[in-house]
Amino acid sequence: MSDVKHEQLIEALKTIIHPTLNKNIVDLGIIEGLVIKDGNIGFALNIEPSDVDVMEKMRLACDRLLLQIDGVKKVTSVLTANRGAEPTPPHQGDAKQFENKKYDNKKATAQSTPPPVDGPTGIAGVKHVIAVASGKGGVGKSTTSINLALAFNKLGLKAGIFDLDIYGPSVPRLMGLADTRPEILDDDKIAPLKNHDIVSMSIGYLTGKDTATIWRGPMVMGAIQQMLSGVKWDYYSPLDVLILDLPPGTGDAQLTMVQKIKLDGAVIVSTPQDLALIDARKAINMFDQTKTPVLGIIENMSYFLCPHCGERSDIFSHGGAQETAKEKNLDFLGSIPLDMAIRQSSDDGDPIVHSQPQSDHAKTYIEIADKILEKI
Ligand SMILES: Nc1ncnc2c1ncn2[C@@H]1O[C@H](COP(=O)(O)OP(=O)(O)O)[C@@H](O)[C@H]1O
Ligand SMILES: [Mg+2]
Repeated sequence: MSDVKHEQLIEALKTIIHPTLNKNIVDLGIIEGLVIKDGNIGFALNIEPSDVDVMEKMRLACDRLLLQIDGVKKVTSVLTANRGAEPTPPHQGDAKQFENKKYDNKKATAQSTPPPVDGPTGIAGVKHVIAVASGKGGVGKSTTSINLALAFNKLGLKAGIFDLDIYGPSVPRLMGLADTRPEILDDDKIAPLKNHDIVSMSIGYLTGKDTATIWRGPMVMGAIQQMLSGVKWDYYSPLDVLILDLPPGTGDAQLTMVQKIKLDGAVIVSTPQDLALIDARKAINMFDQTKTPVLGIIENMSYFLCPHCGERSDIFSHGGAQETAKEKNLDFLGSIPLDMAIRQSSDDGDPIVHSQPQSDHAKTYIEIADKILEKI
């Protein structure tokens, strides 16, 4: 197989004419971050947010065209809009991955006033949307999200999970679908994937395992926007509840997501340590700011259950989340212990609520789901 050259791609892309500006997209300078890695191509099309519909068609045309080039295995493109997003220059470390290192800071600065945020919109085909958030990563947000989605399913609801953590999408692995690609339907929408009786979508299904490094600030919102309008959630049947696994933290990307999507409420996951709780408080404040009801706090890795003797130890201290809930006048939804079985089942792609539905842990997740259900 021949090596794909940067110039080859550029020449091909020059044949694509912008639908309204009547000029080819290379000369217009809207192609950003073109990367080639082992026949995998990635790039972003920087567009005006108002052009999203026509540009989405053009993006698909680019993908189809590049896929015809000898040696191209996969094309991952996204629409981005610089406006309003923090420009993030390429990190020095991965600069060599970027054939096209030019970054249009001028444009980004000229347009750096935040855009008026549109009112939140519901997600088509979904009755209730619940965000799961944490102030920092690694506290078990994805583990909790997926087990809650499975718990809703056990309660008789049609449930789905939407992995918006584009920096570390873990839903493909947790769902046992790491090597599965979603189907693109006739209307160019993406069908969610179904496994363990729930449906899921993740940027990880589209990009594969190793491409997280290509994301840059402005690309994030473009990709999210595309995912929000591009997934046919009711492909199998309408959903009663969709869980959003938000990226950790409380920055611009999180805030925009929370503002754009009509949420029934948010659930905060924290470990019992003080440090994690400081971050959890920031997440609570973010939801307060956007008037999203916080449905409660879950304490994860709350205590350790020894797999040998069954003895319980409070290795991170215990009950911190409960105290924070009280202080913030929020409901405490439950404690999940740090247990090998929870990690192991997740690693195996069959989380505990599905693989061991009779276990105490599964029961705890189902009780928490039940409490959430009462509130929405
Ligand atoms: N209650 C738990 N018991 C044991 N391991 C856990 C538990 N919750 C999460 N983990 C493990 O901790 C790691 C981080 O969890 P993850 O859900 O990916 O966190 P986040 O989404 O917040 O980054 C994973 O390896 C996961 O399997
Ligand atoms: Mg995660």
